[in-house]
Amino acid sequence: MPDAIFAEPRLAEIYDLLPDRPDLAPDLAMADEFNARSIIDLGCRTGVLACRLAARGKEVVGIDPAAASLEVAKRKAYADRVRWIVGAAAQLQGARADLITMTGNVAQVFVTDEEWMATIRACREALNPNGRLVFEVRDPAKEAWEGWNRERSYQMIEAPGTGTVDSWVELMRVQPPLVTFRHVFVFREDGRTMTSESTLRFRTRSEIADTLSRTHLAVESVRDAPDRSGLEFVFIAHP
Ligand SMILES: C[S@@+](CC[C@H](N)C(=O)[O-])C[C@H]1O[C@@H](n2cnc3c(N)ncnc32)[C@H](O)[C@@H]1O
Repeated sequence: MPDAIFAEPRLAEIYDLLPDRPDLAPDLAMADEFNARSIIDLGCRTGVLACRLAARGKEVVGIDPAAASLEVAKRKAYADRVRWIVGAAAQLQGARADLITMTGNVAQVFVTDEEWMATIRACREALNPNGRLVFEVRDPAKEAWEGWNRERSYQMIEAPGTGTVDSWVELMRVQPPLVTFRHVFVFREDGRTMTSESTLRFRTRSEIADTLSRTHLAVESVRDAPDRSGLEFVFIAHP
């Protein structure tokens, strides 16, 4: 069951309005670098990357368990060129791609080893022989959750038809390797507050490398995320 921020229609819509996504530029560049013609964006949420890839003529499938987020995705430019699937790794069965992406730290939503292993195994099976799996995770040693408080995360969102929404993140529990937090949204129009709780798993670089190796995925390289330099590991793996 995806978190409310992705699955609740009002929140999925509002969350999509947050600022531009400089983090996606390297993924767009890698699609060209690896000559990927067919791309699956797993955990695509509201389809920002999927639509940008489709605009470049790529054959794109966007998969996410949050149907409400896909409804937002379908209204974007170039969305009609993307195949949208409500679901998760199981929907990869029978699919083939040159590149599978999991952007925006999707890899951290898999809190159990079973879910994570099943996901990367399904990715491996869906990759063409020269294909690549690309995803990033936050380095647990950098303790990103230290910034997950109102003071450091507050944003004011102007939502067409809804008005001003105040939004921030509150840290709830740090029980390494799990961190639980919630997004808070206050709608000024009617004073209503909506919240969405999430738990993420923080795996170390070596833990991720080990799980990939057990799935017969070789780590080609681990890059830095240019917009979050030194904070994240961008894994590029191939069968
Ligand atoms: C932090 S968002 C990142 C979304 C998107 N990739 C981006 O960069 O904006 C995490 C996404 O993972 C999705 N998700 C949750 N559980 C999942 C699963 N088991 N398989 C694939 N995606 C999942 C959520 O619905 C959500 O859209």
